[in-house]
Amino acid sequence: MNWDIFIAPYAQAVEELKVKLKGMRRQFEYELEQSPIEFVTGRVKPKSSIIEKARRKAINPEDIEHELQDIAGVRVVCQFVDDIYAVVDMLKHRHDFEIVEEKDYISRKKDSGYRSYHVIINYPVETIHGEKMLLAEIQIRTLAMNFWATNEHSLNYKYAGKIPSEVKSRLKKAAEAAFRLDEEMSAIKNEIQEAQKVFMRKEDKKKDMRK
Ligand code: GTP
Ligand code: MG
Repeated sequence: MNWDIFIAPYAQAVEELKVKLKGMRRQFEYELEQSPIEFVTGRVKPKSSIIEKARRKAINPEDIEHELQDIAGVRVVCQFVDDIYAVVDMLKHRHDFEIVEEKDYISRKKDSGYRSYHVIINYPVETIHGEKMLLAEIQIRTLAMNFWATNEHSLNYKYAGKIPSEVKSRLKKAAEAAFRLDEEMSAIKNEIQEAQKVFMRKEDKKKDMRK
């Protein structure tokens, strides 16, 4: 298998999905002066991680493209938990891909404390040989969930997946704190959004004056 040839359509998909989801964000800002989307990132899973995961899950090389759902991954980060469901709903109404699976790790968080909403899609990429369907994973989470997951990921890396139990229990506490932070922010969501609208109007005025 030629690796560059295998990975190229996934890299294409990640770039396209980033453009599309960032486009949603911009449209919201223009039309509503606010957006349920805070920021969008994306990545192609590195070769070493693909090989490691395939080995860990006992997946044959020829089955990788159908078994590994996150070779192409994009992440949508929101301010509020409500926004996650609004984004998921919009993804469901799009015509440029098909949702094949949903994993709600928000109503059912993982043992680690991980929370996020995952949507697995079948995404068509135009290649020089015609259309190629591939799987991609969209992770939708709040800023607080992202903060937690980023730090937990670093620790997993540091400890090669074997985080000491005292650190693990700290992480679980941190996950609970992040959950409460999301709840508290939701309780004053309207207040925050009004403030942010006023702020955006001021920024727009400044931009107009510079024109
Ligand atoms: P792996 O967890 O990588 O074996 O993937 P999976 O195919 O079992 O799917 P799952 O939904 O469990 O995880 C998919 C992705 O979600 C991972 O690659 C991570 O990006 C993220 N994720 C899942 N669980 C955790 C977790 O406990 N901590 C962090 N930081 N991220 C997680
Ligand atoms: Mg897993």
